[in-house]
Amino acid sequence: MPNEAYLDKSVHWKVRTGQIGFAEPTHGEVADAILDVGLATEVGQRLGSGKEADVYLCRDGTKLLVVKVYRQYRTAHRGEGSIRLESMGRRASREYELLCYAHQGGARVPEPGRRVENMFSMQYLGTPESPAPMLQHAVLPQPERFLEATAAGIEGLAEAGIVHSDLSPFNILVHRDLPWFIDLAAGLRVDRLGQPPWVRLHEALRALEHGAATLQRYFRRYDLAFEPADVIVRARAQFDRYRLE
Ligand SMILES: Nc1ncnc2c1ncn2[C@@H]1O[C@H](COP(=O)(O)OP(=O)(O)O)[C@@H](O)[C@H]1O
Ligand SMILES: [Mg+2]
Repeated sequence: MPNEAYLDKSVHWKVRTGQIGFAEPTHGEVADAILDVGLATEVGQRLGSGKEADVYLCRDGTKLLVVKVYRQYRTAHRGEGSIRLESMGRRASREYELLCYAHQGGARVPEPGRRVENMFSMQYLGTPESPAPMLQHAVLPQPERFLEATAAGIEGLAEAGIVHSDLSPFNILVHRDLPWFIDLAAGLRVDRLGQPPWVRLHEALRALEHGAATLQRYFRRYDLAFEPADVIVRARAQFDRYRLE
């Protein structure tokens, strides 16, 4: 078993008693979990697989939807400490809350469905034939318009009180010729700042600068200038409304 030395005693016990395993759950096991908690009536293909979560195309009755499943385990790496099983429920909950918040605030994100434990459902973006492509893999017929819609979308998120934190052409889907923002896992709320507010704002600005620079590199393939400074000015104007003077 990998990384054994880094696991704490309770995890060892759970592994020994078979309560957790280190094999990737099979598609069937994940499908059972989704069906068991009633998030969908049918589980289809896996649309994406990241470091911590998998995304499945599902059906609830006749409606297509997507379920994001945070894995229940995480193998510990050197220096990372032991596995914390319950943290995946928290991560799912965090992303789901941010998605709800962004959606309520009018940002262009998939409409959230329900969350149960480490899984949540949301609106499926795409056609019955194929899921919406990531910006990275899409061919834009009107790239200039799309660039402006992307900048406006980031401003829209800020207006809803959220900074995405992981903006990239992999976390923007092209659906009905518009940018849709997904994967809010690492998003930051800039409306409830806590104490002291400038720390969170500073963090949000750094994340935004990084994401905007990534998108600037992306739009160069169309010879277009996506200006991080403009995006930041526009977003800042939104979240300065929340600033506690
Ligand atoms: N609402 C959705 N509609 C259609 N496809 C989606 C949706 N959400 C995610 N996907 C697909 O799943 C992939 C992974 O989703 P994402 O939330 O970025 O998870 P992660 O990067 O953590 O694996 C995306 O790149 C996209 O292709
Ligand atoms: Mg992603």
